[in-house]
Amino acid sequence: MSTWAVVAAAGRGERLGFRRPKAFAPLRGRPLLAESLERLEASEWVDAIVIAAPPDWDEPSILLAEELGCGKVSACVTGGESRSESVRIALAEVPQDAAAVLVHDAARPVLPLEVIERVLAPLGEGWDGAVPGLPLTDTVKRVEAEQVAETLDRSGLVAVQTPQAFVAPALRSALAGDVAAATDCAALVERNGGRIKVVPGDRRLLKVTDAADLGLVESLL
Ligand code: CTP
Ligand code: MG
Repeated sequence: MSTWAVVAAAGRGERLGFRRPKAFAPLRGRPLLAESLERLEASEWVDAIVIAAPPDWDEPSILLAEELGCGKVSACVTGGESRSESVRIALAEVPQDAAAVLVHDAARPVLPLEVIERVLAPLGEGWDGAVPGLPLTDTVKRVEAEQVAETLDRSGLVAVQTPQAFVAPALRSALAGDVAAATDCAALVERNGGRIKVVPGDRRLLKVTDAADLGLVESLL
């Protein structure tokens, strides 16, 4: 029963505005992607890793994995137009007999090992998937043409992060349909009727979106 990790690293990083894709933007002098690769390699829960790399960046990704001594990296594919497409392409490299798949954004370089364990555990308890979530601290409002339409009750809302863990066949069938609108894999599994558990997230799993985030994340390394 093996667990495979898919690293979604194929984005362009337009909002970051760096001359390289975001996964290769420097964080303390190393490509952002190095952080998640090293942490997945170090996890006793992860057996193998597939990287979805930006177009023309598959070779540098493999070289990086070799330099880091990440022997679990089994394949590197060129990602697709959207995150979900990238995950779908990477998933094709995961063997049919894999039990679980962990999907992680390279854009969240600080990946605490305990979160990996936390999202994988519910798969043994009958859940189709598990995601790390943090309670919202700000008040949330729905806005229409600059006017507040509604103030939402934040008590039932969480902000969801990666890594997200899935029973492999559940993720495969969720990704087989139209994935265009999805911003995370869990949404696709939910749409398919899958049961997703929310486990405690971690503030260190901050997503690098723009240049200011790089400094924040560096301070968490
Ligand atoms: N991603 C991917 N394939 C895509 C788009 C995104 O694998 N076609 C990955 C990114 O590499 C990132 C994660 O999905 O690790 C979250 O995406 P996001 O933060 O939006 O990153 P980018 O798409 O690279 O950034 P931007 O939207 O600013 O271009
Ligand atoms: Mg994007």
